[in-house]
Amino acid sequence: MKRIVVLISGRGSNLPSIAEACAREQWPAQLVAVISNRPEAAGLQVAAAAGIATQALDHRAFAGREAFDAALAEAIDAHAPDLVVLAGFMRILTPGFVERYAGRLINIHPSLLPAFPGLHTHRRALEAGCKLAGATVHYVTPELDYGPIIAQAAVPVRADDTEATLAARVLDAERRLYPLALGWAVNDALRVENGLVRQRDGQAQWLVFGA
Ligand code: GAR
Repeated sequence: MKRIVVLISGRGSNLPSIAEACAREQWPAQLVAVISNRPEAAGLQVAAAAGIATQALDHRAFAGREAFDAALAEAIDAHAPDLVVLAGFMRILTPGFVERYAGRLINIHPSLLPAFPGLHTHRRALEAGCKLAGATVHYVTPELDYGPIIAQAAVPVRADDTEATLAARVLDAERRLYPLALGWAVNDALRVENGLVRQRDGQAQWLVFGA
């Protein structure tokens, strides 16, 4: 059984779909802990209700990024994870932290990377007049929001979209995309070659919604 630790900062929007897929598809894996850098994160309740161990580690209590990441790594390592999954974890990670979990640290970002790394992705997509938006699941490397892309989902941008309506559409797509990508990861169906991720069975590494 692969052991999965999930890191969140807020609602934990992707937690239910990941937990459901893990059970429904009988992944050879279990969600062993959900850790938040914000004690008030609503996702901690979602996790506790699903019977998953939770922990809050308030980054504001630490002197700096290095100190927080060291404490976070200690909390994570206590669960001996095979996979560390970022699900709305809104912290820039130190290179040392990223390297410690190289190859087993996966993130979801609400844009079609390499477009719009960083914050305010939906606002920036609207301002740029993008006609497609989406989300990307990728392995985490030290450079923010760049790393080998595992899978992407595209959704249309509608003429009357606001940041909120576009964010909701992308989040809906994430609920399909993240379990798909993580299912491959726990079943060892991914390999990275020259920075590109291949799916062992040749399954499409993209989803398109609402065309
Ligand atoms: C998701 O849209 C995810 O892609 C994004 O946060 C949202 C989930 O947060 N992640 C990032 O922006 C990471 N840089 P929530 O669980 O608090 O709703």
